[in-house]
Amino acid sequence: MSEVPTRRPAHGPEPEGASRPPAPLLKLSGLEQVFDTKKGPVAAVGGVDLEVKPGKVLCLVGESGCGKTTTARAAAGITRPTGGSVEFRGRALDAMNAAERARFRRAVQYIHQDPYAALNPTRTVYSTLTAGLKRHGLVKGKAEARAKAAELLRLVDLTPPESYLDAYPHQLSGGQRQRVNVARSLAMDPELLICDESTSMLDVSIRVSLLNTLGRLRDELDVGFLFITHDLAVAKYFAWDGEIAVMYLGKVVEHGPTPEVIGNPQHPYTKALIGAVCEPDPDLARANRSAEQLRSAEIPSLHDLPAGCAFHPRCPAFEPGLCDGAEPSLQVASRRRVSCHVVDRDRERAEDRTVTFEAVPGSRRPASGETAEDPQTLRGAAWSA
Ligand SMILES: Nc1ncnc2c1ncn2[C@@H]1O[C@H](COP(=O)(O)OP(=O)(O)OP(=O)(O)O)[C@@H](O)[C@H]1O
Ligand code: SF4
Ligand SMILES: [Mg+2]
Repeated sequence: MSEVPTRRPAHGPEPEGASRPPAPLLKLSGLEQVFDTKKGPVAAVGGVDLEVKPGKVLCLVGESGCGKTTTARAAAGITRPTGGSVEFRGRALDAMNAAERARFRRAVQYIHQDPYAALNPTRTVYSTLTAGLKRHGLVKGKAEARAKAAELLRLVDLTPPESYLDAYPHQLSGGQRQRVNVARSLAMDPELLICDESTSMLDVSIRVSLLNTLGRLRDELDVGFLFITHDLAVAKYFAWDGEIAVMYLGKVVEHGPTPEVIGNPQHPYTKALIGAVCEPDPDLARANRSAEQLRSAEIPSLHDLPAGCAFHPRCPAFEPGLCDGAEPSLQVASRRRVSCHVVDRDRERAEDRTVTFEAVPGSRRPASGETAEDPQTLRGAAWSA
């Protein structure tokens, strides 16, 4: 295992005032992306508010077409959103000058799903890893460039590096290629890695190994992650100390700390996603058993969204008159954001009951953090996929 450099304050200004909590690395506010298509405009992303903190993981999950990649591309500055804003270290992308923009491009690296397509087949690993370093004047001479490339390969556990430096992509396995992609991103000393299904094309054992490498980079280099996956087991494994945001048809429908979202999902769509996992994981299996069947497997078209809650034609908890009227908004409750009329109503009723309970002499209110099932107890559960 290689020696990992200590994280340095990187490409942006440090947060003002030492006593303040660190500013988010990345902040998406009301992010919208409307595409013009032959059938008319489609809102692929319809007002997303999310943050990634330094060294933390935010996992975006949801079915195909829900807007994960569109959100990630806007967050990386690859596309310009049609509404809302993207801020990096408190600075709006739109307001950045050329120098700030260049720093942003180095600080935020995007790792694609397909490790082969992302590499130039005519370039050796050495050439791939050092192209950016040379462009930015970060290495002088071939000896230094080779030493830096070798260091990067050690960081992603491709050892001994000499075995890989002169290899071409076709001479590497899928897992090795994706490690080269990660190493190329690390060459820029990033503060945020945006991983778009970056492990989904890999075999399970290779996926776990790469996730472990990414986890080490997160912990030791303090790299933040916007981590996209449709696999909740991967989300649970990689983002346990972070957060999960569940997207449905361009909107976040549930968002909170990973143990709570996995251990006690509240939105019916989150429950359905967990219920759909064929998973020996005891936490997910427990949630599977309690998940109700969807009323329909068909995902509505973005061109013709249902009235009210967009999930209502499929939702097992659908209540006519409540769910097909107004669109639910994300409501914050105990470190969780959920957009569901039924969850809101049931919570309000529970709060009413709590008031009544407290009025009973001698009754004891549960202590702060005391729940029927403490999600932290899920921590030790073995994960396998
Ligand atoms: N350039 C584009 N023009 C028109 N529609 C687009 C464009 N890019 C994406 N879309 C549409 O936006 C929606 C969201 O797409 P996106 O790729 O963000 O989904 P996703 O959640 O990443 O899906 P997947 O899990 O399959 O990768 C889809 O309906 C898609 O067809
Ligand atoms: S608002 Fe109604 S339809 Fe929508 S998720 Fe909640 S229960 Fe289901
Ligand atoms: Mg995608």
